[in-house]
Amino acid sequence: MKLLDIFGALKKDMDYIEKQLYLAIEDEDDLLSETSLHLLKAGGKRLRPVFVLLGGKFGNYDLQKLQYIAVPLEMIHSASLVHDDVIDDADTRRGKATVKSKWDNRIAMYTGDYIYAKALQQVTKLNNPYIHRILAKAMVEMSIGEMEQIRDFFNTEQSVRNYLLRIRRKTALLIAISCQLGAMAAEASQEVSSALYRYGYNVGMAFQIRDDLLDLFGTEKTIGKPPGSDMRQGNITLPVLFALQEAELREPLLQEIRGIQAGDGTGQEKRAIEMIRGSDGIKRAELLADRFIDKALKALEGLADTASRTHLQDIARFVNKRAY
Ligand code: IPE
Ligand code: IPE
Ligand code: MG
Ligand code: MG
Repeated sequence: MKLLDIFGALKKDMDYIEKQLYLAIEDEDDLLSETSLHLLKAGGKRLRPVFVLLGGKFGNYDLQKLQYIAVPLEMIHSASLVHDDVIDDADTRRGKATVKSKWDNRIAMYTGDYIYAKALQQVTKLNNPYIHRILAKAMVEMSIGEMEQIRDFFNTEQSVRNYLLRIRRKTALLIAISCQLGAMAAEASQEVSSALYRYGYNVGMAFQIRDDLLDLFGTEKTIGKPPGSDMRQGNITLPVLFALQEAELREPLLQEIRGIQAGDGTGQEKRAIEMIRGSDGIKRAELLADRFIDKALKALEGLADTASRTHLQDIARFVNKRAY
């Protein structure tokens, strides 16, 4: 199933959110407007605002209120991508040039900062300090997660637990709070918003594991960014960690990874990726993603059996099969 089909029911409201996103980002400064709208115009799945709206369906759904969560969450996501592409030295995202490659790193730095600030302007339209606190905490955690990733580049001794903690911070928490804050802004009960948080957290974990698998198997056309970037930059992902646990594979794989780190030749990335693709690491990573999806579906069990719950179930299944 296409994500668009799942989103069909929300189309009208998502169109409204899309308009508000543009309005929230534009400003009197021409260059900042251009650089910060660049990524937005390139597309993207808009998964986080969809989660906000679906979360809101479990309370008193009010789009006029929910926009002040949905819009800033997509903006925080965008800002983190603009910065992430600087750190990852990435030239393409969503099939288009990144801000850092179209302009430069300095411009990308302030574009990200600017989008973050504009996101805050939006969320303060909701007079709920509890929501502000949750959002600020997630932004702090994301920064820590990205920092941990830099610290652990080429660290082949890191544990699986280490990897899971990192993706929890850099990806899963923002998805978790998208679901939770949607419900909270709609004044759903604490029980409901916690169940949605658990759903989002587990979907988010599977989402990043899938992203890491797509980096090994995807094509630039489908994923909108060059595959193999994780290997090139020394981002040791879950399938790699599992492959390193295989006795016969460990030494030859370590040797290729050391070669990539030293940058002393060519072909190591390709060889390393081939080794990982042929290892049990793929299956094991997929199994772990499946487990997170199972937990996400479990978290929904106590919620009312509505169309929105079915949409959330469908999205969880999409995440685990996604090719983009
Ligand atoms: C990309 O997120 C970054 C990760 C957390 C893996 P998405 O895959 O949601 O990116 P867009 O918004 O659809 O481009
Ligand atoms: C996504 O991380 C960025 C954040 C979650 C902040 P990645 O570097 O793994 O994702 P892509 O591959 O660039 O989308
Ligand atoms: Mg990154
Ligand atoms: Mg990246």
